[in-house]
Amino acid sequence: MEFRAAVMQDLTAVMSIERRAHFHPWSESVISRYLQKPGSAWIAEENGTVLGWAVITLIAGEAELLMIAVDPDYQGKGTGRALMNFLLNYLTEKQAEQWFLDVRESNSKAIALYESMGFCLAGNRSNYYPTANGHEDALLYCLDLQP
Ligand SMILES: CC(C)(COP(=O)(O)OP(=O)(O)OC[C@H]1O[C@@H](n2cnc3c(N)ncnc32)[C@H](O)[C@@H]1OP(=O)(O)O)[C@@H](O)C(=O)NCCC(=O)NCCS
Repeated sequence: MEFRAAVMQDLTAVMSIERRAHFHPWSESVISRYLQKPGSAWIAEENGTVLGWAVITLIAGEAELLMIAVDPDYQGKGTGRALMNFLLNYLTEKQAEQWFLDVRESNSKAIALYESMGFCLAGNRSNYYPTANGHEDALLYCLDLQP
């Protein structure tokens, strides 16, 4: 598996993943914006096939994971963890001090991944995410990156 910065040519593959991986996928215009923002969007691929993507921001030592999605055909095979570990190394090299993310409280797969990497629960945002029947909480997680 290889990791690289995303480019606009990834738009079709990323949109296909977004539409199949999420209840509420990002729009084409939002995806395009991040594909053009240097250092933000990252791709995991194998033999030229895009397996997953992620979006981060880094401002004044505080990093945030805005998105991670793995193609449903390739989920459960280590891609998400490998992409997160790649980003962890990248952010550590960039001297980030803390890495934040938020996640739907029902997303047990993603929560298991984040907690296994050492992310700690830092708070919650009530009724933050829309669901089919209403809303659910966002859980806010944080990982300290510097010793
Ligand atoms: C969350 C997601 C990125 C994980 O990527 P993945 O490639 O499927 O995950 P991996 O195979 O690398 O597994 C990483 C860890 O996730 C957890 N996990 C994966 N599949 C799981 C399952 N079916 N049940 C419970 N935990 C699971 C485990 O902790 C696993 O670690 P382990 O294999 O050492 O036990 C992916 O499932 C996805 O794209 N989901 C839809 C989009 C999404 O929810 N994004 C996160 C938004 S915050």
